[in-house]
Amino acid sequence: MAFASTTTTCVSRCRNGSGRFRKQGDDPMVTLKRPFRLATDEDAPQLAELVNFAGEGLPLHVWAGLSGQGEDPWEIGRARQARKARDGDIIVVDHGTGAVAGLTGYSIGTEPQPVGMDLPVLFRPLQELENSALESWYINVLACYPAARGKGIGSRLLRLAEEIAVSEGLSRLSVIVASDNAGACRLYERHEFKEVERKACVKDGWDTETDQWLLLMKPLSSAKAKTGDVPAQDLAFGGGASR
Ligand SMILES: CC(C)(COP(=O)(O)OP(=O)(O)OC[C@H]1O[C@@H](n2cnc3c(N)ncnc32)[C@H](O)[C@@H]1OP(=O)(O)O)[C@@H](O)C(=O)NCCC(=O)NCCS
Repeated sequence: MAFASTTTTCVSRCRNGSGRFRKQGDDPMVTLKRPFRLATDEDAPQLAELVNFAGEGLPLHVWAGLSGQGEDPWEIGRARQARKARDGDIIVVDHGTGAVAGLTGYSIGTEPQPVGMDLPVLFRPLQELENSALESWYINVLACYPAARGKGIGSRLLRLAEEIAVSEGLSRLSVIVASDNAGACRLYERHEFKEVERKACVKDGWDTETDQWLLLMKPLSSAKAKTGDVPAQDLAFGGGASR
């Protein structure tokens, strides 16, 4: 699962003209090369869908709770994603026909965040798990459109996440995944993530089969190859991938 409570502290990133992903106030760190690019607010319709894929429908449930009478919950999702895109917080994969996949994440700080009564019950197990992943780069959203899956994009975005984490001086990646999300669990396992903790899912009216949230982590070595150097043929789209 890749949907965090709105109370978590997110390292603010900003966009610059050269498509670099950087921490505010720091020098640019990771250069995005095609097909990666920073999302813009024009990607908002796709981003809302991608976030909802990653969040197993929980985002739509939350947006529905926030929407007024006659208001389309998707509009709330799109507006939120447009804001995040403007802040430079989202990376998309685009082969020239629009965003087909997305990645967002942030550095979890050194201090656990409070899990108080003011935090909606749905988010409490998620925040508790995030509090067990201090000083990691947390993958908040990783998703591809169904037609773009099974072509190596998810793997490539994971390698990009590693590069961002290492560039921020972090030595591990973290992600929260639903126990019944077999495809995502397989992907993370293949990329050497290990389960470190699990919590029962609180549903609070959310229609889901998910019983448990799993916190997976991956230690990183700073000697990793730069993702920007991964050849395009690693992607089936890039022409030549034979997997
Ligand atoms: C999880 C998800 C992001 C994986 O993305 P993906 O792009 O399909 O991932 P990959 O292509 O790297 O790997 C998926 C499969 O394709 C295979 N694959 C990778 N590259 C390939 C290629 N070039 N050709 C054919 N198959 C390939 C992989 O071996 C893997 O097989 P497996 O599922 O049997 O293990 C994607 O399925 C998704 O968006 N799911 C819905 C949202 C979601 O659950 N997000 C995670 C939340 S925590």
